[in-house]
Amino acid sequence: MHATNQRTQVAIVGAGPAGLMLSHLLALSGIDSVVIDLRERADIEATIRAGILEQGTVDLMVGTGVGDRILAQGTRHDGIELRTRGESRRIDLPGLSGRSVYLYPQHEVLKDLIAARLEQGGDLRLGVSEVSVHDVTTDTPAVHFTDADGARVELSCAVVAGCDGTRGLTRSLIPRPPRVEHSRTYPYGWFGILTEAPPSSEELVYADSEHGFALISSRSPTVQRMYFQCEPGEDAGAWSEERIWSELRARVNGDGFALKEGPIIQRGVIPMRSHVCEPMSHGRLYLAGDAAHVVPPTGAKGLNLAVADVAVLAQALERHFHQAASDLLDSYGLTALRRVWRAQHFSWWMTSMLHTEVGKDLFEDRRRRAELDLVTGSEAGRTLLAENYTGAPITLTNPESVFAEALEATARHTL
Ligand code: DHB
Repeated sequence: MHATNQRTQVAIVGAGPAGLMLSHLLALSGIDSVVIDLRERADIEATIRAGILEQGTVDLMVGTGVGDRILAQGTRHDGIELRTRGESRRIDLPGLSGRSVYLYPQHEVLKDLIAARLEQGGDLRLGVSEVSVHDVTTDTPAVHFTDADGARVELSCAVVAGCDGTRGLTRSLIPRPPRVEHSRTYPYGWFGILTEAPPSSEELVYADSEHGFALISSRSPTVQRMYFQCEPGEDAGAWSEERIWSELRARVNGDGFALKEGPIIQRGVIPMRSHVCEPMSHGRLYLAGDAAHVVPPTGAKGLNLAVADVAVLAQALERHFHQAASDLLDSYGLTALRRVWRAQHFSWWMTSMLHTEVGKDLFEDRRRRAELDLVTGSEAGRTLLAENYTGAPITLTNPESVFAEALEATARHTL
């Protein structure tokens, strides 16, 4: 079949948080991009993931014009509760770290970014197929695909951004060596539900219990999001609603706290995995977001890390295209990986401090609870948790960036 030749500056593979935010930031700086994705818009917008945005993510989105709905419809959270042995211990986020977090689900972020890109004439090709990436070690890489109408396209570009998630194809274009993949799997998963019920708590509750971990979060005044630790291969469909509620009750009720229950309208089991691909670039291919790293859900760092990656990548591309210097592109991977490993550590730490393999290793269980006491029992411990939960400012590497001011706002929120 005859292929149409097209050209852009940055070909972005994947229209998730990383790819869409990258294309948005590049457009602000006058850099052209084309974003392609195998999925249709409706599928992308239905991606149910975590709901917590770090202060820096919000500052960057607001500061670059895509945060209006976060401020109007999201909820600022100034604290979280850690419950252990039936007792709640509050972490005062702004009091300890100078920053808050916002509850605003990932699929709403995706809706906002897609709407903003389309409104500004951004080039999104959704529902494409037969994608391949070529010549990333030359100055003329290309992405080939069949568009939603069945036409073959050969898109040549200066740079390919691999934002195609954990099962994407771009990571495998980095040869081994130098590619190394660092992985951990955890001996548990999360059983997640959406329920039609009023909120049980104003703030998120992270509960440690002898039956295992549970998390009480929210989506709206009438829909709540809850999770509890389960076996990794658990069949969510096999559980009755009563069994789900009795498991949640056993983990969080007590000491005057009781869950508000309602019909369960969505359920699923989420695997728990840590993964990092090093290096994050090869030739003119740069990975960002889940294509390069995955965190377990505890602490909700995934989307925030994707946004921090592309903020660094966009600054490097500004320097490359506007100042004809590749220094920031060359250091992109190392700059991004410093934050990635910090977030990996935090997500692993929160996961291991809050989950227990019921009845398996009592020494480990008591040690873990002592760690919870250590962290919640002193201001130094609570501050460490609050600073990492709310997230560090996003690195400003290019003072000439058109969104430098928005990045500086991410730092101003630090005490
Ligand atoms: C949510 C998910 C998380 O993993 C978390 O740490 C906090 C909140 C959520 O889906 O609301």
